[in-house]
Amino acid sequence: MSKIHAAITAVNGYVPDYILTNQELETMVDTNDEWITSRTGIKERRILKGEGLATSDMAVPAVEGLLKKRGITADELDLIIFCTSTPDMPFPATANILADKIGAKNAWGYDLNAACSGFLYGIATGSQFIESGKHKKVLIVGGDKMSSIINYQDRVTCIIFGDGCGAVLLEPNTDGYGVIDSILKSDGSGRPYLHQKAGGSLKPASHETVDAHEHAVHQEGQAVFKFAVTNMADVAAEIMDKNNLTAEDIAWLVPHQANKRIIDATANRMGVGSDKVMINIERYGNTTNGTIALCLWEWESKLKKGDNLILAAFGGGFTWGSVYLKWAY
Ligand code: UT7
Repeated sequence: MSKIHAAITAVNGYVPDYILTNQELETMVDTNDEWITSRTGIKERRILKGEGLATSDMAVPAVEGLLKKRGITADELDLIIFCTSTPDMPFPATANILADKIGAKNAWGYDLNAACSGFLYGIATGSQFIESGKHKKVLIVGGDKMSSIINYQDRVTCIIFGDGCGAVLLEPNTDGYGVIDSILKSDGSGRPYLHQKAGGSLKPASHETVDAHEHAVHQEGQAVFKFAVTNMADVAAEIMDKNNLTAEDIAWLVPHQANKRIIDATANRMGVGSDKVMINIERYGNTTNGTIALCLWEWESKLKKGDNLILAAFGGGFTWGSVYLKWAY
């Protein structure tokens, strides 16, 4: 029997309606549209407004739309991997909450936290269950309500992040389409530069941690930028070399959307022209686990069966990696 690959057979996304523009941010912190645009490429981002709404509430419409597209019901799902850094609550897993909300009665699931590289870790992990023959339908969700962990008085971080969620379905394919290879890396010594100080077992919530905004993202931008720009480009080039791919062989680069300058550097290193790079950072900012899935969703109509895609990401941890896949439909 020919090898089983895990192929993406459906993709969908959801972004909240509220648009937080650079102009509105100018009224909140000491910043300006020109600085944000030239340093990051971001013009606006989406924010999930409303009491009692969490990351899973963005996943529900994303996944329900995906199931409809694929023509299957939620109880056909075997496994849900929810990649997020902003789970609805510390436990139980948002994967379980989502399963309950959509009626995925036969699925087991768990959350995966690898910050901005989470969705790639999820694809690589979920693929194993398909390749082994263990499961037939694995749902990979990437989503974050970043606005729940952002200090909107901190101009260094509040201009970057947005809310959003995307999802893909993985199914077995024996015709050579699907996930061909992945390279995943991590280096925990990078944690001082990008982390959330409080709320974990190291520093549980207290009045002091709340007053000091320690439940919000802490990022030392320049340090992260240096690691990100090198490592994301290197790991994208590495997976091309490993699979004997030239720039001509690549139909699309699907990069994590953290900073337009990091995306451009990765494309340059790969020798891929800007017409082959999926970029929506100007409209959504950095949605952490959501970025790559949201790109696939928005570009779905342009993708052709057999297209070679390179997915690449870098994030907190540090975590980074790349995935090479052949589009299956
Ligand atoms: O997705 C997870 C991984 N994360 C990343 O990949 C993010 C990587 N880092 C970055 O994208 C960039 O470092 C940032 C966009 C976060 C910052 O851009 P930068 O070019 O590295 O700026 P900087 O931090 O070096 O700051 C330059 C100047 C500083 O002023 P002085 O010291 O030169 O007077 C900052 O205080 O810009 C100032 N600044 C701002 N000015 C206006 C910082 N934030 C702002 C702001 N508006 N929002």
